[in-house]
Amino acid sequence: MAKRRAALIGATGVAGQQFIAALKDHPWFELVALAASERSAGKSYAEALRTANGMLAWFVPEPLDPKVAAMPVVSGSALRGRDFDLVFSAVEADVARELEPKLAKDVPVISAASAFRYDEDVPLLIPPVNADHAPLIRQQQQRRGMKGFVVPIPNCTTTGLAISLAPLEQAFGVQAVLMTSMQALSGAGRSPGVIGLDILDNVVPHIPKEEGKVEVETKKILGSYAPGAGAVTPHGMKVSCTCTRVAVLEGHTESVFVSLKKKATPAEVAQVMREWKGADVARALPSAPPRYIEVLDDPFRPQPRLDRETHGGMATSVGRIREDGVLENGIKYVLVSHNTKMGAARGAVLVAEMLHEQKLL
Ligand SMILES: NC(=O)c1ccc[n+]([C@@H]2O[C@H](COP(=O)([O-])OP(=O)(O)OC[C@H]3O[C@@H](n4cnc5c(N)ncnc54)[C@H](OP(=O)(O)O)[C@@H]3O)[C@@H](O)[C@H]2O)c1
Repeated sequence: MAKRRAALIGATGVAGQQFIAALKDHPWFELVALAASERSAGKSYAEALRTANGMLAWFVPEPLDPKVAAMPVVSGSALRGRDFDLVFSAVEADVARELEPKLAKDVPVISAASAFRYDEDVPLLIPPVNADHAPLIRQQQQRRGMKGFVVPIPNCTTTGLAISLAPLEQAFGVQAVLMTSMQALSGAGRSPGVIGLDILDNVVPHIPKEEGKVEVETKKILGSYAPGAGAVTPHGMKVSCTCTRVAVLEGHTESVFVSLKKKATPAEVAQVMREWKGADVARALPSAPPRYIEVLDDPFRPQPRLDRETHGGMATSVGRIREDGVLENGIKYVLVSHNTKMGAARGAVLVAEMLHEQKLL
């Protein structure tokens, strides 16, 4: 099978760089074009990454492939969808709102941006959790008259939460969720990102718009979709969060309290999480981990430094599963999820792989 030709917009950013790493030697997709802002257009990729003081702002631990370093960067507005088989997008929402629909007239766009996540004809996909929502793409195409489509992935804080809730919903039902996040710096990207002076020796107790995103997205992802319907019916659970920024480079930690519909012991919760494999179609994809959830018994885990890279940054690590005596049928736990891998680039590549398997791409 010839590889599908992919373009990447936002290639120079934190998430964009992870896309480059995720697509290196990919068996199905080949990265053939890189786009960023006018600031980077006309430069080679390496030149575009060079900061004013001469530093190569390559954020990913894997070395920058010399072939990618030499690739030209074009402006996002200069990309023509029909030159590619699909486009990955890692730009901010305002840029996505303008560029993605233009590209989607001709070609599928898989996006890390929030711009279209809340539109009713747009599924918000995490392959092991809600693969059955993907056919909503066909309604989107019909309604908008597009050959392609826009499929966003969730906010990186939502991803680990929704994955950890999926087996609980299936086994016991979920009534309500309270969550406090301790989010990594890389989640804020580089433009402008978080300034070292503001975060070292500190916790910043507010991330603009983040809490609303997690609350709405979790219900949409765990909602139901009837084939042929024009929208997902959101899950009726209540979700309330506090999102904070901490001085961690990668990996979002979340303290989660869940009110279940049916009482369950911590041992039962651990068991259903351990046994959960997710949707069949999500199991054998090239970027799929051997397990989407790893449950840890050590009460000092999960920790972002130790657990974010589990299964290549594609697993949600869960620990400290305990009974909660305040909520009805309460259970509480801590999770760690990699925000720029499963929560961004590799998670988006996983969605593209699933859509390819579902013959939607
Ligand atoms: N970081 C994460 O953990 C994470 C996780 C999930 C989702 N996301 C989402 O991914 C997107 C990117 O986030 P990020 O953290 O990678 O941000 P970032 O580091 O600030 O990167 C932004 C990227 O957008 C490009 N860009 C800016 N204006 C543009 C334009 N007019 N046309 C084309 N490209 C343009 C920038 O190019 P220049 O270098 O030329 O300015 C850069 O490549 C956001 O929507 C974010 O919410 C991020």
